[in-house]
Amino acid sequence: MKALPMTRTIGAELTGVNLGDASRNDALFQEIKALLLKHKVLFLRDQDISRAEHVAFARRFGELEDHPVVGSHPDHPGLVQINRSDKEENYENNFHTDAAWRTCPPMGAVLRCIECPEVGGDTIWVNMEAAYERLPEEIKGKIAGLRAKHSIEHSFGAVMAPEARAKLAGQYPMVEHPVVRTHPETGNKILYVGSFATHFSNYHTPENVRFGLDKSPGASMLLNYLQSQATVPEFQVRFRWQPNSVAIWDNRCTQHYAVHDYWPDPRKMERAGIMGDAPF
Ligand code: SIN
Repeated sequence: MKALPMTRTIGAELTGVNLGDASRNDALFQEIKALLLKHKVLFLRDQDISRAEHVAFARRFGELEDHPVVGSHPDHPGLVQINRSDKEENYENNFHTDAAWRTCPPMGAVLRCIECPEVGGDTIWVNMEAAYERLPEEIKGKIAGLRAKHSIEHSFGAVMAPEARAKLAGQYPMVEHPVVRTHPETGNKILYVGSFATHFSNYHTPENVRFGLDKSPGASMLLNYLQSQATVPEFQVRFRWQPNSVAIWDNRCTQHYAVHDYWPDPRKMERAGIMGDAPF
């Protein structure tokens, strides 16, 4: 197995390995896991594996979970089917970490392409450790100890009728996470506000808030600035899909954006989302 870095900050292409084999081989799996911690997202081509192998490989990282809005394969619970060819609307074309609206968001995911347009439908991943590291020191000081709310209601719920949206919000109330989280395995600091973040919940110190103006719109301008860091190309890698291409990502320290430039062409993906821990 070889890992070829794709940028200076994030992503490597793995060659000489089959994920079906890795699902049955502990040493191989551990090698891939170590590479994932190093590169944050791994890309593989020509993974002609079965759905059972896809699930078995992802299960080695931890338990899988379904999505409350996006359905899973009927025979393979935990294998979420992301088919964005039926209508023009899309959910994934914004920078986000998956399910940050959960108390314990996923630690990672294994995404396989079933069908994709010849051109278009790329996905971009971002190294949010680098995004944190490169923030001005003054901003780092300002956001240390800051917490933000994350919600499914204003994202997946936004296209729903009011009653359905209220039901979803009742099932998944807003959660609060630190704006800067620590990676549980590497100890590195991560800027942890993507598009599910709605507002800060403890923006109140005298240094931060001298006048009401500092809180509103000041706090939301700071949140927008932090969220915009994911758009910096120096922190990104962009991947062009083919059928049987796979991406494995660490959802704790990355964000991603699925480019929605291909409709009405079909694009069908299957994602095994792996349960994670509460951010600290
Ligand atoms: C996702 O947002 O998890 C899916 C990404 C993709 O479809 O490329």
